[in-house]
Amino acid sequence: MSALTLSSSSAATLRADAVVIGVAKGPDGPAVAPGGEPLDQAFGGSLAGVLETLGASGGEGEVTKLPAPDGVKADLVLAVGLGDAPEEDGPYDPEVLRRAAGAAARALAGRKKAGFALPAGDEASLAAVCEGALLGAYSFTEYRGKEDKNARNAKGKKGKDGKGGGGDKSAPLAEVTVLGAKSRDKAHKAAAERAEVLAAEVNRARDLVNTPSNGLFPKSFAAAVQSAAKEHGLTVEVLDEKALAKGGYGGILGVGQGSANPPRLVRLSYTHSKAKKTLALVGKGITYDSGGISLKPAGHNETMKCDMSGAAAVFAAVVAAARLGLRVNVTGWLALAENMPSGTATRPGDVLTMYSGKTVEVLNTDAEGRLVLADALTRACEEKPDAVVDVATLTGAMMLALGGRTFGVMANDDAFRTAVHDSATEVGEPSWPMPLPGHLRKGMDSPIADIANMGERMGGGLVAGLFLKEFVAEGTTWAHLDIAGPAFNESGPFGYTPKGGTGSAVRTLVRLAERAAAGDVL
Ligand code: BES
Ligand code: MN
Ligand code: ZN
Repeated sequence: MSALTLSSSSAATLRADAVVIGVAKGPDGPAVAPGGEPLDQAFGGSLAGVLETLGASGGEGEVTKLPAPDGVKADLVLAVGLGDAPEEDGPYDPEVLRRAAGAAARALAGRKKAGFALPAGDEASLAAVCEGALLGAYSFTEYRGKEDKNARNAKGKKGKDGKGGGGDKSAPLAEVTVLGAKSRDKAHKAAAERAEVLAAEVNRARDLVNTPSNGLFPKSFAAAVQSAAKEHGLTVEVLDEKALAKGGYGGILGVGQGSANPPRLVRLSYTHSKAKKTLALVGKGITYDSGGISLKPAGHNETMKCDMSGAAAVFAAVVAAARLGLRVNVTGWLALAENMPSGTATRPGDVLTMYSGKTVEVLNTDAEGRLVLADALTRACEEKPDAVVDVATLTGAMMLALGGRTFGVMANDDAFRTAVHDSATEVGEPSWPMPLPGHLRKGMDSPIADIANMGERMGGGLVAGLFLKEFVAEGTTWAHLDIAGPAFNESGPFGYTPKGGTGSAVRTLVRLAERAAAGDVL
């Protein structure tokens, strides 16, 4: 990840490759936002006019680059749109700043160091700029060829902007310096450190999601958790296929049995000696979802490495809670399996006996997420946590309902669903509360088992939620996040969100844990 420093230098005096300023959408054209004044001075007070000439309006996400004038130590000025200026000179919405910083950081890929002179006087704004810049300066390079003999032999002249020749224009911005902050101010320092942990953990989840399924499978995912647990002093326990069979985890085994890569259930736990509450997080970790015997048609499986995004978010959130030293216990449960068709795979019509003892008729092997989650939910409830939250790329139906950027929140408790939705809103993750209408349960009635893994097609996301509810212990507060839409960005990057794995739900889970630590929820 990019390095982060706070600096009290001004936009004109920082030595860097680029300096980022904000542009608001004013009534009479673009207006330079607070933080950009020293640059406006260097332009002789004409910066807003120069930006207008270049076509800038100050609209959110708009990026305008211009050469720095004399008297400015950076080479390049990057003006990023902030939309309408807040009323009465109040602070900007943190999410606006986060997105703007992210868009700027993305546009500066290939450069080494940039100063961010955005309006970030208060802690919330400062944190948002730090987070946005670090999240925007992300790229997944693990699978780029380490060596291309042809390219190496054809090195051209390298331009000043790093493009051309051997310059790697896709290397993320290496150093982020946030200006206007006080690096010795305790609150500013704490805000920057929290932003750094959050961004690092979101980026951890993104890396896992982006890793193709031949590089990440249940066993290697579990190994990654073990190594992070060691690094951060967490307790980890891994159930392999033998332990799963001994324990009667029929759901996880039933989904994983068609694959040459056997399933795992991972328990990762962070405890604080003064914790009053315990939060259990359960993640769907299908490292590849082919659909199984109910094979997905071509066009529906190219992105299915992303089907472990819930488990990645849970993993990252537990590590973040630990790194932040939150006064709350957080236990992560990662239900890891690869859903493949083969001679050993579960067949449509097979009946599984789940960890809870309930039997499930598997009508469609592509409805596998609810099967692995069911076992993990039942197991998580045994420890009597104050609440359980599961996170899953569960249904295409949720994408149809809410689109590609918003996750659905379902729960067996209205106040808790609201708390989860509010936590998501606070951190800038779009989400929406969804119901669990009881009448949809009868569509899952099975003639031979306790329940089928499919019901009515209409309201498919809610049907899946109702299935999960059956595996949550009576009296346990539970919420379900269906992140099928926002987990994986199939279109172009925007704001601080890259193409591919997004790290959806990590920041929401951390915020929820913070609120549980503060006694605001549960
Ligand atoms: N992993 C998919 C859901 C999904 C679809 C996630 C698209 C991300 C993008 C899930 O396992 C699935 O296949 N669900 C089925 C359920 C159906 C068979 C009842 C679906 O949504 O079509
Ligand atoms: Mn599926
Ligand atoms: Zn799936």
